[in-house]
Amino acid sequence: MVPLMNSTFEKSVIITGAGTGIGAATAKIFSEKGYFVYLLGRTSSKLDSAAKNLSQYQTMVCDLTDPEQVKDSCQRIMNSPSAPPVQVLVNNAGIFRRHSFDEGSDEVWMTQWWSNMMGPVRITREFFPYFKKNRKGSIVNVSSTLGLRPSFETSAYSATKAAMVNWTHSLALEGAQFNIRANCICPGLVDTPIHDFHFLPAAEKEKVLQNLKNMQPLGRVGQPEDIARSIYFVGAEGSSWTTGAVLSVDGGINLT
Ligand SMILES: NC(=O)c1ccc[n+]([C@@H]2O[C@H](COP(=O)([O-])OP(=O)(O)OC[C@H]3O[C@@H](n4cnc5c(N)ncnc54)[C@H](OP(=O)(O)O)[C@@H]3O)[C@@H](O)[C@H]2O)c1
Repeated sequence: MVPLMNSTFEKSVIITGAGTGIGAATAKIFSEKGYFVYLLGRTSSKLDSAAKNLSQYQTMVCDLTDPEQVKDSCQRIMNSPSAPPVQVLVNNAGIFRRHSFDEGSDEVWMTQWWSNMMGPVRITREFFPYFKKNRKGSIVNVSSTLGLRPSFETSAYSATKAAMVNWTHSLALEGAQFNIRANCICPGLVDTPIHDFHFLPAAEKEKVLQNLKNMQPLGRVGQPEDIARSIYFVGAEGSSWTTGAVLSVDGGINLT
């Protein structure tokens, strides 16, 4: 954890799963736009690496499947005397397990449920009263194109992401009277460590990407920055009249 300096910034964002992929790219863009950034994730070294070029930030190791860790991290953020108020919460952390339906054990289903759905619920539940009190808050849930339309061998993951879309609508309805917005981003196929192909040697990876590219209407696999820009777009104040939106950021794959 990096010690908190007296901040000159006026607003903060919390990003879960900020050590890699979409979360790290989102941390970078919010930092560039003048936010103090809280980077949460499970692995300290990944968080440090993502924070390397940010101006004002704090990293926090927090496993979202552990209620005590979630409570403790949220308390530390809310009670931090020198940090600017949190205005945006990005529920980005998630895991993906591929399996045929009949091989999906309870463990496979529940691991993804606790990480992808209950983790976001827990941290949001901590911050909802805080946002209510401030009469200002913006929640961005990172779902998936699979949450709108499942694919083969993704039943448990797709179900968690579909739940997240529906939950975003509940949050938007309940939050509106307190000026709390909730929106959902549904990424398509993005080149991040969540996919095994991300780690292949360059030549092999290129072959896989070539095949994947051919399935994408816009002709390429997404990069983390493609998603981060949309998370910023709906999360920040420029979208102050947008709530309950479900934005596909997927190169058009949802239409095929
Ligand atoms: N890449 C895609 O094609 C794609 C498509 C649609 C949706 N998404 C969604 O986008 C989000 C970001 O994924 P990504 O593609 O950027 O993959 P990623 O690089 O693997 O990022 C996921 C991050 O979540 C963190 N995380 C996982 N479980 C956690 C937990 N219990 N507590 C705290 N942090 C946890 C991971 O930290 P550790 O590494 O330290 O475990 C990791 O930094 C996920 O919700 C994913 O489902 C991705």
